[in-house]
Amino acid sequence: GLRKKEVNVLCLGLDNSGKTTIINQLKPSNPSNLLGPFSEEWKHVSQTQTQEIVPTIGFNIEKFKSSSLSFTVFDMSGQSRYRNLWEHYFKETHAVIFVVDSSDKLRMVVAKEELDTLLSHEDIRCRKIPVLFFANKMDLQDAMTSAKVSQMLCLESIQDKPWHICGSNAIKGEGLQEGLDWLQEQFG
Ligand code: GTP
Ligand code: MG
Repeated sequence: GLRKKEVNVLCLGLDNSGKTTIINQLKPSNPSNLLGPFSEEWKHVSQTQTQEIVPTIGFNIEKFKSSSLSFTVFDMSGQSRYRNLWEHYFKETHAVIFVVDSSDKLRMVVAKEELDTLLSHEDIRCRKIPVLFFANKMDLQDAMTSAKVSQMLCLESIQDKPWHICGSNAIKGEGLQEGLDWLQEQFG
């Protein structure tokens, strides 16, 4: 029979960037997104219920299914003490979602360092895996535009992988649909 394509997705980015908030927006059980972008198209198939969002310890795994894809999302902790866990999942991953707090100018260089470490890693370097960037927290007054975030992370220099950047407000779910649509297209 027809099997859904299995896609492993690593969700990376510094602590407090909004990774878990973004993934929570995919869950139809989240009361704030009953009318949200994913409630009809996406079926959340993990056991975990939506809870109050707290800093992630280690990582969480969430599974989502669309009509043609089965996504397993690894929501990694961005805290520095857990960032060494990321690379253990590089080999198995088929896509990366990299989340940036667009208002955190001070740590944009740290985000770039972590991105560069990812892109130059031997398990990622030579593979054409899609990388979706969310320039998150666009609602904050001092947020940089997605063009500015793209410039600060030197995204134009990524030539061997498909990549895409979207501005987002994870609390309201804005911008997430565009990004997820792009990601889905990469596996179409
Ligand atoms: P770690 O698990 O520690 O790596 O953090 P994380 O990237 O998962 O961040 P998390 O989703 O826990 O969000 C951190 C804080 O930012 C929470 O208080 C969120 O409510 C807030 N937040 C997330 N997205 C947005 C956004 O788009 N706008 C605003 N204003 N706040 C946001
Ligand atoms: Mg988290």
